[in-house]
Amino acid sequence: MRARPPLLEIDGLNVHLGTPRKRILKDVGLALRAGETLGLVGESGSGKSTLAKTLVGVHRPSSGSVRFGGRDCLLATGKERARLRREIQYVPQDPYSSLDPRRTIGETIAEALDPRHPRVPTYRQRIVELLGLVRIDGSALDRYPRQFSGGQRQRIAIARALAVEPSLIIADEITSALDLSTQAEVLSLLADLKRSMGLTLVFVSHDLAVVRSISDSLLVLLHGEVVEYGDAHEVFEAPASDYTRTLIASAPGAPGFSLD
Ligand SMILES: Nc1ncnc2c1ncn2[C@@H]1O[C@H](COP(=O)(O)OP(=O)(O)OP(=O)(O)O)[C@@H](O)[C@H]1O
Ligand SMILES: [Mg+2]
Repeated sequence: MRARPPLLEIDGLNVHLGTPRKRILKDVGLALRAGETLGLVGESGSGKSTLAKTLVGVHRPSSGSVRFGGRDCLLATGKERARLRREIQYVPQDPYSSLDPRRTIGETIAEALDPRHPRVPTYRQRIVELLGLVRIDGSALDRYPRQFSGGQRQRIAIARALAVEPSLIIADEITSALDLSTQAEVLSLLADLKRSMGLTLVFVSHDLAVVRSISDSLLVLLHGEVVEYGDAHEVFEAPASDYTRTLIASAPGAPGFSLD
């Protein structure tokens, strides 16, 4: 029997940005199967968000290929492109700016459910269900983003992404702005959703300890290059690069970790 093809497959991806143009991603390649979580790690400026945004069509690569569900994303036009935009959902880091402050969270989720007729009464039941998935009481749907905490807002952003029923969610540093216990809450929520809904996830973080708990595979970027890529467990057991070894040794909880 042939193994299932990956849901997402990236090959030889190069992305240049800015003026003058600078090569930000260098020959990046990876493959992700449905239901699995890829941890994408690297220091600030290593290119994690650039990779994430390239996947949702914000940046256009100068070369390489991105295949999703066996189809070439870079060649997609019209309806196919619009469908890809729904199938791959991006959840950004900042829970303060990612939700429209003038809309109730019910309106925001209704818009994700039906952009043309975002009527809250029509979709009330589904909105309540989606909020329930991220452990927010449905009675809060008439409230505005400012009435929620950072962690709650981040969970609302996840509910909005889930409303679209995407095949892939890219979570870009979504726990970085949160305190430790709220961070743990969001992580455990994602782990639950992964189990219950078979969610496929790219989880971006500069913190190796955070991705460890949730990732099946792990990719480490350094200056736009892949310095490590493989099964998460194996990477932690036997990292291939010195850079990853340093990251592991300096992660909180690691044997060699020290605060001085
Ligand atoms: N639109 C842009 N135009 C020009 N350069 C850019 C642009 N976006 C990002 N860069 C540059 O690309 C490099 C990678 O940035 P990117 O935001 O992808 O890093 P990151 O790994 O997400 O960092 P962080 O952990 O701080 O979020 C940086 O040097 C950044 O300055
Ligand atoms: Mg980033």
